[in-house]
Amino acid sequence: MQSGVTTTTTSGSSPVANAASSAPPKEPQRIGVVREVFPGEKRVATVPDVVEKLIKLGFKVAVESGAGDFANCSDDTYRAAGAEVMVGAAQVWAACDIIFKVRGPTSEEVALMHKGQTLVSFIWPAQNPELLKQLEAAGVTVLAIDALPRTLSRAQKMDALTSMAGVSGYRAVIEAANAFGRFFNGQITAAGKVPPAKVFIAGAGVAGLAAIGTAASLGAVVRANDTRAEVADQVVSLGGEFVKVDYEEEGSGGGGYAKVMSEGFQKAQRAMYAKQAKEVDIIITTALIPGKPAPKLITAEMVQSMKPGSVIVDMAGEQGGNCELTEPGQAVVKHGVTIIGYTDLASRLAKQSSTLYATNLFRLTEELCKTKDGIINVNMEDEAIRGLTIVRQGSITWPPPPPKQAAVAPAAAKPAVAAPAAKKGGHGHGAASEPMAANKLAIMFVVAALLFGFVGAYAPSAFLGHFTVFVLACFVGYMVVWNVTPALHTPLMSVTNAISSIIAIGALVQIAPPLGTTDWIRWLAVAGIVLTTINMFGGFAVTQRMLAMFRK
Ligand code: NAI
Repeated sequence: MQSGVTTTTTSGSSPVANAASSAPPKEPQRIGVVREVFPGEKRVATVPDVVEKLIKLGFKVAVESGAGDFANCSDDTYRAAGAEVMVGAAQVWAACDIIFKVRGPTSEEVALMHKGQTLVSFIWPAQNPELLKQLEAAGVTVLAIDALPRTLSRAQKMDALTSMAGVSGYRAVIEAANAFGRFFNGQITAAGKVPPAKVFIAGAGVAGLAAIGTAASLGAVVRANDTRAEVADQVVSLGGEFVKVDYEEEGSGGGGYAKVMSEGFQKAQRAMYAKQAKEVDIIITTALIPGKPAPKLITAEMVQSMKPGSVIVDMAGEQGGNCELTEPGQAVVKHGVTIIGYTDLASRLAKQSSTLYATNLFRLTEELCKTKDGIINVNMEDEAIRGLTIVRQGSITWPPPPPKQAAVAPAAAKPAVAAPAAKKGGHGHGAASEPMAANKLAIMFVVAALLFGFVGAYAPSAFLGHFTVFVLACFVGYMVVWNVTPALHTPLMSVTNAISSIIAIGALVQIAPPLGTTDWIRWLAVAGIVLTTINMFGGFAVTQRMLAMFRK
């Protein structure tokens, strides 16, 4: 067994931590996976396919016997992948340098940890200060996967919160379909016409979007609402309709998350939700605000107003629920409406969520072990690793310092009322710069006109024709590209690349030059045709692949 990890420290770190990190281990470390002890938890922190990858990174892997039973991963499959199967959790905790877990450890599990060990699991440090203190006292290093800075694009492959929310959103629809007494899709049968189910999704974050996609693919009519207006396009692209609250207020609270809305907004939102509750058959709520109780969006009266047999799946149960009548962890029937408050939706799809979680942890391990020698290096200079390291060698390092640079720049706040027009000749920056910009534009036009006049007067008439087409093409190209949403710029570029191969026609004309002209024109034309062919077919092929990514 190998204790301790190599640790790249930040300046100003404690001398104790520095001393502990002074002797890097040489032997490959052993990663241990224990059986989850939380009642009803079916997930496992790694799966056999990922075991093979971890071994390729240089690690040894040990799995507690039975750890993967509920996720359809038997001891034999772990063994076949190269893992050692150990009987009893105590043996795994004692024999391994690094422990992978799904749920945070219990006090009994913390007692099994040894100094220098590294734990990777969900922890929720803000909600579990007691656990944080226990881990500190144990002298271990803890990487809380839920503390990953999610907005770093490099961190997306490690984002277990997103993986689990996606699985939960999918499962919420399956639970709703199970409790709902009708089809989701509309049908015309010999026995009569069946209308499609109407589904309303409150909160279109990761889980909400997964639910929208799943419900739409089952054929339901899907509507959704979120306080962050920027998600409206995503809702539509997944086949849903975005329902707006009749009140102007930006809902973004920074970092892609929501904020608590004003009283006025909440009143208008309640009115809209009350209307939806009467119309729809299924409501799935996913609304959360970091560090705050879940907003109460569905009142008891709204539940009462729903048609008998309707279903509510409240995914915010663990944070108090979005529906007043939710009983966290339970499925209950109130006023003829089934209200599902399960808090283990991801665990109910154990194989899928375990596979995704295992892949997230493998990607994290790759980041921790760039040398591929089976020894992790908790590099505190790396923003992603720093963010999720909540305890380092017995010292609490949570919360991390604020991110160096906001990944998504907050939108500039719009003034409530238009600023009074600046007086002519005023000193205000805006007032002075606008006429300056207008002057610049006028000068540019005059210069362009003079240049064009000069070219017109002296250049051959054929050139003038081509030149005019060129200028117009630039103008049209500019206007077209600038109106396309940035996400589609790459497919647009590849298709314009393909279309630009129209120049092949020029080469075709030149391939049989008039008699008496030199042979090199012919060879230039041949080269032109070959190159534009590659451009054309390559461009269309790339466009096809990219557009396929946007299709369902
Ligand atoms: P979440 O689980 O905290 O919240 C779920 C949704 O509920 C959010 O869309 C939020 O706007 C919405 N909501 C909150 N209060 C509401 C209310 N009163 N009424 C209606 N809706 C309400 O958020 P989640 O799903 O974990 O992530 C939210 C966003 O974070 C993503 O959509 C994305 O923009 C950002 N994110 C960015 C990532 C990245 O850049 N790599 C990765 C993951 C998330």
